[in-house]
Amino acid sequence: MNEITIIKPDDFHIHLRQGSDLEYYAKESEKQFKRGIIMPNTVPPIVTVNDVNRYRDEILKVTEGFEPLMTFKILPDSDPGIISELKQNKVIAGKYYPAGATTNSEDGITDWKIMKPVLKEMEKHAMVLSIHGEVPDSFLLNRERDFLPILDEIHRTFPKLRIVMEHVSCKESIDYINSAHDHVAGSISLHHLISTIEDVINDTSIKCMPIPKTPEDREAIRFAAFSGNRKFFFGSDSAPHKVEGKIGFNPKSGVYTAPVILPKLAELFYENGVLDKLENFVSVYGARFYKLPLNREHITVIKKPMIVPDEMYGVRPYLAGSEISWSLKN
Ligand code: NCD
Ligand code: ZN
Repeated sequence: MNEITIIKPDDFHIHLRQGSDLEYYAKESEKQFKRGIIMPNTVPPIVTVNDVNRYRDEILKVTEGFEPLMTFKILPDSDPGIISELKQNKVIAGKYYPAGATTNSEDGITDWKIMKPVLKEMEKHAMVLSIHGEVPDSFLLNRERDFLPILDEIHRTFPKLRIVMEHVSCKESIDYINSAHDHVAGSISLHHLISTIEDVINDTSIKCMPIPKTPEDREAIRFAAFSGNRKFFFGSDSAPHKVEGKIGFNPKSGVYTAPVILPKLAELFYENGVLDKLENFVSVYGARFYKLPLNREHITVIKKPMIVPDEMYGVRPYLAGSEISWSLKN
């Protein structure tokens, strides 16, 4: 098979940034995705109904048929009273960042229990809880594994709350999600399907949180994506940072994968003999979990090489300079 046409995908975890950068990143994502769950870790963060509506308008202004699915950032002092209004304004999820876990999360949550009143309202209003699941004080490679007891506690306390463990990066998360109720799902990024800790050491421009881990972890993540398991769906966590921020001591966390997603996924699924599983992974399972209709547009990816640019808009994209054997058909 030399080409495949699928329902236009959704990116269930995307950082579009803000200000003048937003237009570039949004337009790039729109080429491959019909909808995107827009992460709220801007500066200042997206927390109120006004923030959400303003940010949505900014995205709509610079795109054509793209549908931003909005989230709000849960802060230690978030008022449970605003959840119903957020829901009325079509906010699809609340994002829980443990304080200090990743880029722009210093204002996050130190003890999850403080969110109980907010989570209770979210459960009542069928709003999804999106989690950056890491314990920032743990050793880098154990941060996600060490978070799983917290995830389990939240799930047990609010069994009807739908939860997405974002960008799963270790085998233990895959096992946990598989064993949990259907209300718990996992999003999987491109870079966690491809890279390991060794790649990050060799090229710190791909440093991101959670850090890509061992080949065994990557194998477990691949198995979840390749086996047609509806608890796992695509969320890129594409997170652009300008080149200056990615060099030297303590480079910023986040990797800009958006420009290469579908070509690289098609190559990976093709090489593993599971191209027929791609559409469900990128266009169906996530929509079902979020209770969204499937997109009506389609997109075609063909087996024709593309070279990834070294730099795009001052950012070094994921897989910069390499050849991918599939590309978008235009
Ligand atoms: C993201 C960013 O740069 O906003 N960084 C990252 O390493 N993934 C934040 C996040 O989702 O963790
Ligand atoms: Zn992210």
